[in-house]
Amino acid sequence: MAKPLRIGMIGYGFMGRAHSNGYKRVSDFFDLEYTPVLQAVAARDPAKAKEFADRWGYGRVESDWQKLVAAPDIDAIDICTPNNLHAEIAIEAAKHGKAILCEKPLSMDTSEGERMVAAIEKAGVPNMVWYNYRRIPAVTFAKQIIDSGQMGRIFHYRANFLQDWTISADLPQGGAGLWRLDAKAAGSGVTGDLLAHCIDTAIWLNGSVTDVTAMTETFVKERQHQLTGQREPVTIDDACSFLCHFQNGSLGLFESTRYARGHKALYTFEINGENMSLKWDLHDLHRLQVFDYKDAGNMRGWKSIHVTDGDHPYMDKWWVPGLAIGYEHSFVHQVADFLEAYAKKQPAHPTFRDALETQRVCDAVLLSGKSHQWVNV
Ligand SMILES: NC(=O)c1ccc[n+]([C@@H]2O[C@H](COP(=O)([O-])OP(=O)(O)OC[C@H]3O[C@@H](n4cnc5c(N)ncnc54)[C@H](O)[C@@H]3O)[C@@H](O)[C@H]2O)c1
Repeated sequence: MAKPLRIGMIGYGFMGRAHSNGYKRVSDFFDLEYTPVLQAVAARDPAKAKEFADRWGYGRVESDWQKLVAAPDIDAIDICTPNNLHAEIAIEAAKHGKAILCEKPLSMDTSEGERMVAAIEKAGVPNMVWYNYRRIPAVTFAKQIIDSGQMGRIFHYRANFLQDWTISADLPQGGAGLWRLDAKAAGSGVTGDLLAHCIDTAIWLNGSVTDVTAMTETFVKERQHQLTGQREPVTIDDACSFLCHFQNGSLGLFESTRYARGHKALYTFEINGENMSLKWDLHDLHRLQVFDYKDAGNMRGWKSIHVTDGDHPYMDKWWVPGLAIGYEHSFVHQVADFLEAYAKKQPAHPTFRDALETQRVCDAVLLSGKSHQWVNV
């Protein structure tokens, strides 16, 4: 019998569902020493929280997160709230000795992130941040190829994250569903929301970023606020592009926007090395495009590897070779990796400290966007 890890979930929105699905499926597919138990959920609206608890199988509902983080029957707190609550909840949960799984971005800014890291490291509690794209098999496979050294020297890292859902100037900001447009709840716009994913993957695959120069824009300057009913200035970045240097000498080029008509969640990256190039696209997430200069000259070309074979990362846990898995499985994999690290008392990456590095890059990008200067990370 696997030992229980009793989860206290805070927030029942998009990520509350994605994580709950991860907790529920993981033990069906992975052999682990611990198994998640959906112990309790906390959110402000008790009726909606109850509905969520009943649908997903949580044992009970807490009326506020303070009660949940103090509850003796909870082993791990999962923070699935808007960004402005991550720090307060994590610091309080650490005081109560809970393991903490926190959604990204870690914090509203670097100084808040530093306080979070200090609190969880002082408490010595297991911790992880949900940069889930690392656990898409094709992305993990790219990491294996890079770490094998066969790409040779890396020259370029390029990433995009493009959406189009905020183009209408009539879209309000703030409150349920729209907190991402309100800097007081989100911290920043596309930089913390979308580029943070690209930066986390980039650091993981290609190492640290040393300095950045960025361009940010807010296309719609004022929007009605859902909570106050007033028209208020919009202070998030609607779009952000930046150039950077990596510590390994390669050059980075990143772009994110919510104004790229036609794109819903187009996360792509490409890495150009001396011997090889790799390319990945979230809309075709089970494929890794590979160009290998070592192939015979007359056979050279981009190949599209369907990352679904038994010797590809995570894939031996699923169906038979050739059958694809999807977005939600990245969360199942992240839960599995967390539980394995938890059992071995080892760090589960990305830790809060790893995610703080991404936060530092985000802050440097935002500062450069304002100052129009290169900024060291
Ligand atoms: N890893 C990813 O790919 C990914 C994707 C989407 C969102 N996120 C992150 O997940 C977090 C949540 O985003 P989401 O899309 O799930 O948002 P959401 O708006 O769908 O859900 C937010 C939830 O937080 C709850 N909440 C708000 N204030 C609260 C409070 N004071 N106490 C308790 N609960 C409260 C809301 O009721 C809601 O259930 C954010 O930090 C976001 O950046 C990560």
